[in-house]
Amino acid sequence: MSSDRVIELLQKAYGDEMETVMNYQTNAIVLDGVRAEEIKESLQQDIQEELAHAQQLGNRLKQLDARPPSSAEFTARQDSLQPPEDSTDVLSVIRGVLDAEGDAIETYRALINAAKDADDPVTEDLAVTVLADEEAHRTEFRGFEKEYQND
Ligand SMILES: [Fe+2]
Ligand SMILES: [Fe+2]
Repeated sequence: MSSDRVIELLQKAYGDEMETVMNYQTNAIVLDGVRAEEIKESLQQDIQEELAHAQQLGNRLKQLDARPPSSAEFTARQDSLQPPEDSTDVLSVIRGVLDAEGDAIETYRALINAAKDADDPVTEDLAVTVLADEEAHRTEFRGFEKEYQND
């Protein structure tokens, strides 16, 4: 029922979610200034959702007789989401978030296709649900990008 490709994408997505949690958390703490407040609040809310995604992916991996990766197997990838030198540079964080959400959307689309090919509707359903959350995050941060680049 499960395919290597499905397992591989679930594990990749799990690692990405955990890296996202780390970088959203760090940026939510590092950013300064009145203009950052709205972004910090939104990041805090998304951290909970991304963590829930990781939990769901990890549980699915277990059901497929596999395991989520731990830190020793992990390669960091989110270069554009590193906290900016200037802690008031909100736009840099917004663009980093858009990159992360865009990557996540690509991964969940690939997972949907792999799960479909593997005749694994449970993983497919999970990937569709998480994809909808990531698209909502992207829409929210596209709005922030518009707002902040005009300031
Ligand atoms: Fe997520
Ligand atoms: Fe997200």
